[in-house]
Amino acid sequence: MGLIKVTIDRQILRNNFREIKSLLPSSASIGAVVKSQAYGHGMVECAKVFVEEGTRFLMVSLIDEGITLRESGLKEPVLLMGGIWPQEARDCIQYGLTPVISGLHPLKALSQAAVELNLEARVHIKVDTGMGRLGVPMEEWKSFLEEALSYPGVIVEGLMSHFSVAESPEDTDVAYTLQQLEAFRSIVDEARKRLPHLKWVHLANSAATLQLPQSHWNLVRPGLGLYGGIQVPQINLREAMEVSSRILHIKRVPKGKFLSYGRAFRTSRETLVAVVPVGYALGYLRSLSNRGEMLVRGERTPVIGKVCMDLTLLDVTHIPQVKLGDPVILMGGRGEKRISVFHLSQWMETIPYEVFCLLGGSHPGNREYIN
Ligand SMILES: Cc1ncc(COP(=O)(O)O)c(C=O)c1O
Repeated sequence: MGLIKVTIDRQILRNNFREIKSLLPSSASIGAVVKSQAYGHGMVECAKVFVEEGTRFLMVSLIDEGITLRESGLKEPVLLMGGIWPQEARDCIQYGLTPVISGLHPLKALSQAAVELNLEARVHIKVDTGMGRLGVPMEEWKSFLEEALSYPGVIVEGLMSHFSVAESPEDTDVAYTLQQLEAFRSIVDEARKRLPHLKWVHLANSAATLQLPQSHWNLVRPGLGLYGGIQVPQINLREAMEVSSRILHIKRVPKGKFLSYGRAFRTSRETLVAVVPVGYALGYLRSLSNRGEMLVRGERTPVIGKVCMDLTLLDVTHIPQVKLGDPVILMGGRGEKRISVFHLSQWMETIPYEVFCLLGGSHPGNREYIN
C-alpha cells in the first residue's frame, strides 16, 4: 500500500558540483562522496553525474559499493573510506579500488595479494587528528608509516584525516577544528619527507570545503553539500531530492474524535482528514507525529495523530478543493511554503544527512531522475 516517489534532479546535482568547484583554487580537486546510495540519492546515478562534472575520486565506504561502481562501467579512482577486511584485499586490487588504511591488519593481505597478482596496491593512510573513529592514532603514525612502507607492492599515495565538528560555529568547536587542521598540517609536512610519491592529501568534508580554505590541500571530500543539505551565503546550493506521495483516502470527521494510534490527537472542530500511504517504514519517522507538515495543492498541512508504519493523517480542512489522488509533497515544493530538508530534520530532531538517507534510501525502487 505504501507509495512514495523520490525525484532526483540531476541538473541541481550538477549545479551544486559547479558551485562548490567555484570556491576551490585550481590546485584542489573534488572527490565526490557517494557512499550509502549517495545519501539516499542513488550511488551510481549520482556518481555518473559527478564524473561528467570532473570529480577526481568517487568516495564510498565499502568494497561492495566500489565493485558496483566498477560494474557500472565507472573507471575513476574509488576510495574505500571504510577500509577493507584482509580477505577483500585481492578483490580490492583486481577491481582497482583504493582502500583507506587505519591499521596494520589489511596491509599484509594487500601486500601479499599485490605480489601474487603482480599489481600495485594503492592506499591512503588515515590519521586520527580528533575525530576518534577510524585512523591511525597521532602518537603512532610515524612508526605506522615506516611499517607500511616496508610492505612490498603497497604504494602509499594518499594521506587523509577527517573533521569532527567543522560545521559548528561555536568558539570551542572552531578551536577544535583548527587544532585538527594544525595537527594534520604537521603530519603532512613530516610525511612528505618519507613519501616522495605522495599524490593526494585530503581533510575537508563539505563544511570545511565551504568555510575553511586552509583545509583544502589538493583534494576535498564533499558529500552533503553536493546534495544541498548544507548552505552558505557565498554560493547557491540546492536540494536535489523531492519526496512525494498521493492522497489515498479523504474523510470528514466530527469534532471530538480521536485519530490514529494511541489517541494522541482529538479533533477540536469538524475536520477534513486526508490519509497518505507513507509512514515510518518508508522513512517518515514517528517523531513527526502531531508535528510534521506536508504540502497539498501548495499549502502546508499538519500531520495529525501518530505516524503509522505505512499511513499518515493530514488535516486538510483549509483546502476545500482537495481530492483523492492529489499529490502530497513530503519534502520539496516551491516558494516560501516549501518543505526543506532543514524543516524535516528539525521536526525529526535529527540532521539533514539522516533525512536524506531515510527518505531517499528506504525505497530505492521508487527513485526517479529528471534532467
Ligand atoms: C571520511 C569522510 N569524508 C567525507 C565525508 C563527507 O562529509 P560531508 O557529507 O559532511 O561533506 C564523510 C561523510 O560522512 C566521511 O565519512
